Amino acid sequence: MSRVYNFSAGPAVLPEEVLVQAASEMLDYQGCGMSVMEMSHRSKPFAQIIETAEADLRELMQIPDNYQVLFLQGGATQQFAAIPMNLMQNKVADYIVSGSWSKKAFKEAKLYGDARCIVSSEDENFSYVPDVANLSFSPDADYVYICQNETIYGTRYPQLPDTGDIPLVTDVSSMFLSEPMNVSDFGLIYGGAQKNIGPAGVTIVIIRDDLVREEVLPFTPSIMRYTTQVAAKSLSNTPPAYGIYICGLVFKWLKEQGGLAAMAQRNEKKAALLYDFLDQSKLFSGTARKEDRSLMNVPFVTGSDELDALFVAEAKTRGLESLKGHRSVGGMRASIYNAMPLAGVEALVQFMDEFEKAHTK
Ligand SMILES: Cc1ncc(COP(=O)(O)O)c(C=O)c1O
Repeated sequence: MSRVYNFSAGPAVLPEEVLVQAASEMLDYQGCGMSVMEMSHRSKPFAQIIETAEADLRELMQIPDNYQVLFLQGGATQQFAAIPMNLMQNKVADYIVSGSWSKKAFKEAKLYGDARCIVSSEDENFSYVPDVANLSFSPDADYVYICQNETIYGTRYPQLPDTGDIPLVTDVSSMFLSEPMNVSDFGLIYGGAQKNIGPAGVTIVIIRDDLVREEVLPFTPSIMRYTTQVAAKSLSNTPPAYGIYICGLVFKWLKEQGGLAAMAQRNEKKAALLYDFLDQSKLFSGTARKEDRSLMNVPFVTGSDELDALFVAEAKTRGLESLKGHRSVGGMRASIYNAMPLAGVEALVQFMDEFEKAHTK
């Protein structure tokens, strides 16, 4: 067996221990004589899998009792629609646009009501997070929306907007469980699992009770109503059962690692190694503003498209995979999620150093 260091932005690296356990349980899950993949989602063993996953997630994030946890399908993108459909009572929402994902969410919300972009960092190609200290929000806004870690541009909010009584909604797809967060700061927290938590196909929504409302936009499909999913405990229809099982294994793994505070420390160390190298490099440079740098997604460039392409190709021969930047930005991007070991970042930095020496005079 030979495993590479996988820097993909998502689907992405998973903890090896989790993959080994899943493999060992593939044919016979704990004496059931079948795989979790073959199991009814209404069976007792699956009930235990999803209930344990929720309990472990609640423990890891210290989710208060007045929040519901949902394991859904449809990806984060489906939530771009579900959020306005469910939360727009006045049909007004304020969006902070700090990258392609919040921009997409904003565009989608405009289909359903008066979504307003109150500030954007598109003027500088989303290389920074807009200043949120002195924003004024629409008094009748149903919610304020942010994408807390923009996967493509590698930015993360250094500080959250203070929205007062207006619920704050956050897309944490690319930073889910990478550090502790105060759930009570938010009305709704959501993200796709396929970056930091599990396989593609699972979307986790954490929503405060008062936002789970019967009064939604009239055309909201039943399956996309939070009331439906809360009432059925995510089992309104067949959930992404195998994916939820893997998420559950990852939650156990995170607890064994010491929880989210321990993960944050490890993630800070990994990110610092890479950013420190970038900051002294004569060839490579990071593209995001320093204060707003993501701990999870690190975009960088050499300044030459040819050298960028050569770097990505040579890195691959060293077992350093999926370093090509997103097609809308170019250059490189190293995604260093929870499951990326420090040794992977060390190997990357060592290769960058060698590459730099070979290509600078
Ligand atoms: C921050 C963020 N939001 C949303 C999405 C879209 O997620 P999905 O592909 O699960 O719809 C991505 C994905 O790749 C993302 O990085």
